[in-house]
Amino acid sequence: MESMLRPDALKGRTIVVTGGGTGLGRSMTEMLLGLGANVCITSRKLDVLQKTADELVSASGGHVLAVACDVRNYEEVENLSKVVRERFGSVDGLINNAAGNFISPTERLSGKAFQTVIDIVLMGTVNCTLVFGKEWIAGGERDKSILNVVTTYAWTGSGYVVPSACAKAGVLALTRSLAAEWGHYGIRSNAVAPGPFPTKGAWSRLLPGDMIEKFDMAKRVPLGRLGEHRELADLVAYLISPFSGYINGEVVTIDGGEWLKGAGQFSMLDQVEPGMWDTIEQMVRGAKGS
Ligand code: HXC
Ligand code: NAP
Repeated sequence: MESMLRPDALKGRTIVVTGGGTGLGRSMTEMLLGLGANVCITSRKLDVLQKTADELVSASGGHVLAVACDVRNYEEVENLSKVVRERFGSVDGLINNAAGNFISPTERLSGKAFQTVIDIVLMGTVNCTLVFGKEWIAGGERDKSILNVVTTYAWTGSGYVVPSACAKAGVLALTRSLAAEWGHYGIRSNAVAPGPFPTKGAWSRLLPGDMIEKFDMAKRVPLGRLGEHRELADLVAYLISPFSGYINGEVVTIDGGEWLKGAGQFSMLDQVEPGMWDTIEQMVRGAKGS
């Protein structure tokens, strides 16, 4: 995976990627490895993680540690930290990428369904941030970086994924709050907000069956296409690296302009045939004085 950073940009640094066995987390891991980082990937399914680790190591020759950990469980996250430190000595970056999500009208959700998503997305991010952050602070370790993966509806909100929207909004608040509070410890907190990037995990839960044909996500994007994994991975590598050392408390949107198009009141005028604009102009000019 080609990067804007030089190939040894992350050499000697250790980065933990939650949800690193699949989808975007896997692509981030591949990019980080290519830049020389040691990467610890974690999620609930050890078999998936180990397969990813084996494949990426055989392709890159780098170091990937696969550790099973449910980020909802604080003790499991403490164990994760212990294991990764035993293997690599220290941790320099944490990418809170793990998530749970599915579409549903909100009135169909049970309290447990809502809680499940909040627990994975918000509390999982909180748990990892607390465990690694406390250790960095207690040890006086500096030059550390936390990167949270949110999405644009963290600030716009969105129907049909309301638990996720609430949780991602909380993660964004956490990002900005800790940027201010922990900056003096040498810990940066940033976020990325991806638009649509095809992954099996997201697509199967957000656009199941033939919904993928009915709701073409690319049509929502001014650039007319979906995101490519390497584009997000490159941004993530930069933001987790010391090269972005003065960026703190930022959320970088990477969505081809999708959310702004959704917000703009007249964005629907892109459906007007170009040949119609002469007639429309005449009608508008004709309205003068009326
Ligand atoms: C209504 C549902 C439901 C559905 C589950 N529940 N699916 N309710 N509609 N489709 C309810 C269950 O009935 C149960 O409540 C509760 O939620 C917990 O369900 P479990 O299956 O026991 O939970 P668990 O095994 O922990 O699985 C979590 C999960 C699952 C979130 C439900 O989908 C998962 O493992 N997801 C991980 C990966 C993922 O979601 N990736 C996509 C990220 S994409 P009751 O009351 O019945 O017991 C993303 C994109 C953002 O975030 C932006 C895109 C543009
Ligand atoms: P994905 O492949 O389903 O990734 C989610 C990962 O989270 C999985 O590896 C899953 O692994 C892990 N996970 C879920 N619950 C967990 C738990 N309790 N503990 C530990 N790990 C857990 O989906 P993705 O599309 O790559 O999503 C990655 C991130 O990008 C998410 O934060 C998502 O919200 C964000 N995002 C994606 C898009 C998109 O278009 N794809 C857009 C905006 C934002 P296990 O099941 O093995 O635990």
